[in-house]
Amino acid sequence: MKHRLLQQGRMLPSLEARLAQTYDLHRLIDEPDPKAFLAAHGSEFVGLVTTAANGAGAELLAALPALRVLSSFGVGLDKLDLAGAAKRGIAVGYTPDVLNDCVADIAMALMLDIARRTAEADRFVRQGKWSTPGLASFPLGRKVSGARLGIVGLGRIGRTIAKRGEGFEMAIRYHSRRPVADAVWPHEPSLLELARWADFLVVITAGGAATRHLINADVLDALGPDGFIVNVARGSVIDEAALVRALVQRRIAGAGLDVFENEPKVPAELMALDNVVLLPHIASGTRETRQAMADRVFDNLQAFFAGQAMLSPAPLS
Ligand code: DGY
Repeated sequence: MKHRLLQQGRMLPSLEARLAQTYDLHRLIDEPDPKAFLAAHGSEFVGLVTTAANGAGAELLAALPALRVLSSFGVGLDKLDLAGAAKRGIAVGYTPDVLNDCVADIAMALMLDIARRTAEADRFVRQGKWSTPGLASFPLGRKVSGARLGIVGLGRIGRTIAKRGEGFEMAIRYHSRRPVADAVWPHEPSLLELARWADFLVVITAGGAATRHLINADVLDALGPDGFIVNVARGSVIDEAALVRALVQRRIAGAGLDVFENEPKVPAELMALDNVVLLPHIASGTRETRQAMADRVFDNLQAFFAGQAMLSPAPLS
């Protein structure tokens, strides 16, 4: 008999096909009234597949009283009720490591883009401004190679960004609550001091209540009118209203953002600014990495149902 599995949100088609072949899979998005469906059938499911974006909160877990395993597509844990899962002994898997390279690549892309103004320069060419006689030439950018890179959060992805920065001969420091034992880069215990020092402040710390609005107006002012901020973590880590004000008032030089507080809503003020690069949360979005994430979601489940340890169990605290 196949284990009954509930799927929350959309998945990569290849993953859905694999899950449907191996398990008795049901997609919640196909239900016109998901709440009524869960009330009637919630107790049938022993497994749940979700994504970092869709999460699995207390309400959903409560609707699945027989749940034994949850496998999430993504590295972010901020939308999963880990404490609730731990209390009930539900095993939780997620997909760290396999996306480090791609998220770090996008952090570099954003740094290069905001400093060298590539998206803005592309608009300049497309709008025919390059070939218009008499127009001022395209403004100068800022040098990335050799600049100061401050990293907020030195987890797996933070380290990968630091290594990319070394390739650009950047000076690197990081901030985290505690120094990371084997890190070769200097730890800066004060986030304000890191922001003051940095030319580029890259945010790659975990989301959730503990880091909400960690980057506030004070941090942005410490970064100052020559400093750039990049966010490839979670929108919630930056006070977005304060960021918008700092950008509009040119109190910081620019921002490269892959994430926002109320995705997919992006503040209109940001859309109007040229010193901002806006991405639709695509840091892990390559075919190779998304496939590796899909494989990990599947392998975590398979390991659980085989009575083995999952490849990447979530830290349950
Ligand atoms: C993640 O894996 O958490 C990415 O941000 C995609 O949601």
